[in-house]
Amino acid sequence: TTEPLVLGIETSCDETGVGIVRGHTLLGDALASSVDQHARFGGVVPEVASRAHLEAMVPTIRRALSDAGVTLADIDAIAVTAGPGLAGALLVGVAAAKGLALAAEKPIYGVNHLAAHVAVDTLEHGPLPEPAIALLVSGGHSSLLLVEDLAHGVTPLGSTIDDAAGEAFDKVARLLGLPFPGGPYIDRAAREGDKVSIAFPRGLTMPRDMVEHRFDFSFSGLKTAVARWVEARERSGEPVPVNDVAASFQEAVCDVLTRKAIDACLANGVSTLVIGGGVAANSRLRLLAEERAVKHGITVRVPRPKLCTDNGAMVAALGSHLVAAGVAPSKLDLPADSAMPI
Ligand code: KG4
Ligand code: ZN
Repeated sequence: TTEPLVLGIETSCDETGVGIVRGHTLLGDALASSVDQHARFGGVVPEVASRAHLEAMVPTIRRALSDAGVTLADIDAIAVTAGPGLAGALLVGVAAAKGLALAAEKPIYGVNHLAAHVAVDTLEHGPLPEPAIALLVSGGHSSLLLVEDLAHGVTPLGSTIDDAAGEAFDKVARLLGLPFPGGPYIDRAAREGDKVSIAFPRGLTMPRDMVEHRFDFSFSGLKTAVARWVEARERSGEPVPVNDVAASFQEAVCDVLTRKAIDACLANGVSTLVIGGGVAANSRLRLLAEERAVKHGITVRVPRPKLCTDNGAMVAALGSHLVAAGVAPSKLDLPADSAMPI
């Protein structure tokens, strides 16, 4: 028996993504981004994102189907991001998914965007060993999760108490005059910089923080420290060493993320660490996680960068996992929930 063919739709932020998956195999993947329309605002404008999804939705579905060499009639189930995310953006994807499910008389699965960031790794590395620890780092979220049974929910261990990691990358990039979204630009600039040139703070790592906030993150103090450092430099009339600031900032973020992720593995007796979300595309984070994990016998799983940032394949991957686990589909009146908890 062949496994069901699942089509996944993602519209929680500025990427319109449609993926088609059978089992753990990615057959089709199409993406349309409105990122260029937001760049001049320095952040995603919800209304602009919603309109862009509406225009891109059907063409992106068509591209994914043709990429996979299948038709709508071949699809066995529809999965869609139901939250968390921008309310208006989510509504476009959920409405489209309902239309498809209704027309094709197929089950629909409303899924959690964060769980989908974890599930996408199965497309690259096969079934996820459970329990696993997931480090989820994106523009909107930074969390550590205990994944005992991905199909039935995950246990949050901690999350950011202020900015998300990706948000910190984007804000610091802006401060350094780099384009939006800044993560990839910081990553590139950092390669030419000295990561130990400036000692930026490591949020929530002091002994007293490790009692109440052992698995939580804080990046707003770091962002402020970078801003102060750059301002002082500008006042002194000396040029800002963009590459060194980028490298030192990136090191501070990656140091804390990997340290706490490995601590979470050790505290829970878990030997698999899966990293997901846009910031998981960061080259230093990938390297440092691997370097540190290997010392503790922990296996790190990170999907290729293209699957780390938002896409439709991740939603299809989670949908496929839910179908295989025998989870009941959602009802056709399923709501979008912009604040959906993990
Ligand atoms: O997962 P994602 O595509 O969207 C959200 O769900 O938020 O993550 C986007 C975030 C942005 O903040 C972006 O700057 C960051 O991921 N990002 C990176 C890199 N590539 C994307 N951050 C650091 N290094 C990268 N290479
Ligand atoms: Zn995301």
